[in-house]
Amino acid sequence: MTAICVENLVKTYKSGVQALTGLSFTVNEGEIFALLGQNGAGKSTLINVLTTYLRPTSGSVSMFGKDIYRETAEIRTYISCVAQRTSIDTHLSLTENMIFQSKLYKIPKSEAKKRMELLVSYFGLERYLKYPVSSYSGGVRRRLDIALNMMTNPKVLFLDEPTVGMDIQSRIAMWDMMKKIRADFGTTIFLTTHYLEEANQLCDTICIMKNGKEIIQDTPHALCEYLRQDMLEISFSSKEEAKSCLDYLKNVITLENSDLRHDKIITSLKNGRADLERANHWLLDNGIPFLGIKIIGSNIEDVFIRLTADKEAC
Ligand SMILES: Nc1ncnc2c1ncn2[C@@H]1O[C@H](COP(=O)(O)OP(=O)(O)O)[C@@H](O)[C@H]1O
Ligand SMILES: [Mg+2]
Repeated sequence: MTAICVENLVKTYKSGVQALTGLSFTVNEGEIFALLGQNGAGKSTLINVLTTYLRPTSGSVSMFGKDIYRETAEIRTYISCVAQRTSIDTHLSLTENMIFQSKLYKIPKSEAKKRMELLVSYFGLERYLKYPVSSYSGGVRRRLDIALNMMTNPKVLFLDEPTVGMDIQSRIAMWDMMKKIRADFGTTIFLTTHYLEEANQLCDTICIMKNGKEIIQDTPHALCEYLRQDMLEISFSSKEEAKSCLDYLKNVITLENSDLRHDKIITSLKNGRADLERANHWLLDNGIPFLGIKIIGSNIEDVFIRLTADKEAC
């Protein structure tokens, strides 16, 4: 079932800034969905719209088939959001936060207690119960915040850059937590990130956005396959050599989406191996001082760079 369906979403702030410019995508129930975009792409704005905190200028959003603006009260019972600024009260302990949250959402006492115990043991948070949340590191605080947001048993959990600024251990702990939530609570997780590796490792679906609009949505595997065909890498000893070669190479083979990365030319190839051979002969025949030439597989970083590159910068 489709958990979230966004169509042609536009958000223009009063200042005139167009943060969302006709964004569309769908999120399936029970998946971890990553919205990937550079700073300023519009990720936080989108989360604020999806969690009914901001009204869009135009476009539609439905969750589980319900229009989120017509049925806002019901939608709010479906969702939880861990925003960039933590929602947890850092002066209180996790237990106190959880009790407060359950009162806010009118969860009966006995049920709240059961749920609290389940979440604490499930996420292995026993040792963080005693002291105020502020006494723990940023990474632990974030995890406590997520546990708190699971008190209401949301259908969709929104996480805005959940691992930003964390060290690798904290990130791994956070990824484990998200995988557990997906596997055992069946919660749909919608997260934003600008870490490519995170999206690749963790998520079922990635939507790459730029300037308030989606560029592509697919599985990490399919995104890599998308560019896998026929990428050619030619290495040089300097960036200058790579650059001057690129200008001539255009006359030898058809270069698609070519770009310079440090001292390498990386390009999609129209004719696969035949182009590799032609380029190789040309380099050798003309005594061009290159270090190596090969066909490479693409990773999520290539996909991201390729798809978000400004045309004029290529
Ligand atoms: N409250 C606001 N008022 C005006 N402009 C905003 C506001 N919030 C964000 N913006 C602008 O909207 C664009 C998208 O911002 P944001 O959604 O925060 O992107 P991201 O989370 O991807 O970094 C940026 O140009 C930002 O400066
Ligand atoms: Mg943001």
